[in-house]
Amino acid sequence: MNAQLTPALSHDELDAFWMPFTANRQFKAKPRLLARAQGMHYWTDDGREVLDGVAGLWCVNAGHARREITEAVAKQLGTMEFAPTFQMGHPIAFELANRLAEIAPPGMERIFFTNSGSESVDTALKIAIGYHRARGAGQRTRLIGREKGYHGVGFGGMSVGGMVNNRKTFGASMVPGVDHLPHTLDIEHNAFSRGLPQWGAHLANELERLIALHDASTIAAVIVEPISGSAGVILPPVGYLKRLREICDKNEILLIFDEVITGFGRIGKPFASQAFDVTPDLMTTAKGLTNGAVPMGAVFAQRKIYDAFMQGPENSIELFHGYTYSAHPVACAAALATLDIYAKEGLLTRAASLASEWEKAVHSMRGLPHVIDVRNFGLIGAVELEPRAGKPGARAFEVFLKCFERGVMVRQTGDVIAMSPPLIIESKQIAKLVETLSAVIRDTA
Ligand SMILES: Cc1ncc(COP(=O)(O)O)c(C=O)c1O
Repeated sequence: MNAQLTPALSHDELDAFWMPFTANRQFKAKPRLLARAQGMHYWTDDGREVLDGVAGLWCVNAGHARREITEAVAKQLGTMEFAPTFQMGHPIAFELANRLAEIAPPGMERIFFTNSGSESVDTALKIAIGYHRARGAGQRTRLIGREKGYHGVGFGGMSVGGMVNNRKTFGASMVPGVDHLPHTLDIEHNAFSRGLPQWGAHLANELERLIALHDASTIAAVIVEPISGSAGVILPPVGYLKRLREICDKNEILLIFDEVITGFGRIGKPFASQAFDVTPDLMTTAKGLTNGAVPMGAVFAQRKIYDAFMQGPENSIELFHGYTYSAHPVACAAALATLDIYAKEGLLTRAASLASEWEKAVHSMRGLPHVIDVRNFGLIGAVELEPRAGKPGARAFEVFLKCFERGVMVRQTGDVIAMSPPLIIESKQIAKLVETLSAVIRDTA
């Protein structure tokens, strides 16, 4: 398939779109345009096939252009394109919440809908603070995030996040009363670990240090990604998440798992908290919820949290929070069709059956030039490259570009190449992904 799919855009036509998280001038000088997608592949505007090694942006878990989702969305648009959920409701919003509660970790059966991961995070942080106030502990407002954490780009998420480039411009506007745990990436101890690293569970004890500093009575919640993706795939050391849970329990601090990338089957269970057998109090999701087809997010809350809000006069609004598009009917239709596909094709657990093949494939890149670490879990993989002197990120960016030219899309963040393919990936596509990346790494000085 080599036909031009869309007319090429002139340089002037590229100016108006201020692209997110993109080097705009560099991109517009030499654009990379995707025009069509199906299954495991994209096609560029000039008709080149590209294997999708990152499920779009960690969201297209069931593969691209699923007919069932297209039909459900079209049907919903023809039936009722919009309905408010402020003091009104519509049936598929309730149906979707019930369906999500069925696959949720134990007790996480109250669902608040948003439109993105960033909104889910800010919603969860607000619920955590509101929860403590509702139970008479309104002084618990402090939030604890983690270095290298990524929790989206809202002011709350940015503040608890720990990626310097996302924070440095906005310093004085950051939410006050936030502290950070140390991150868990330690190449010296853990390089080339297969699956979870053995070293580092004690890093969770840093939470006790922060509690000693601020006092537990001031802390509302701790938020972490069970596996962080955006900072370059950082895995929790064995025992780390359980230890965080214990310390939170002992101190009545809520534990929030940000499962925006780990949710919906990425590591072989519906959610990472089930894979790691650690249940949080709140869980943020988005991306795979609708297979990326329509923007939507969801915050899962333990029943005790919802119940704490359900007090006072019955005509009072319990949580002053929501979005015009919370539980948008078209997004609900897309999510229901997505959940049907996940169930029918066993996609929420398929990563578990591919995990050892995947692990072997990605670890075959150990020993290639400049490779200083390989990390994997479920259907997540990462290769960390030694940075070029004085030019952090340049080597990995070149690798990303060359992979794209050779028909494979991976994701670059700093000096890490991350992979998170659709969960429908087949063995020959795993092989192609890794062979292409390996060849490019070999060819990159
Ligand atoms: C863990 C995590 N939280 C939040 C977000 C933000 O999601 P969104 O871009 O949908 O706002 C992301 C996005 O990658 C993420 O990885």
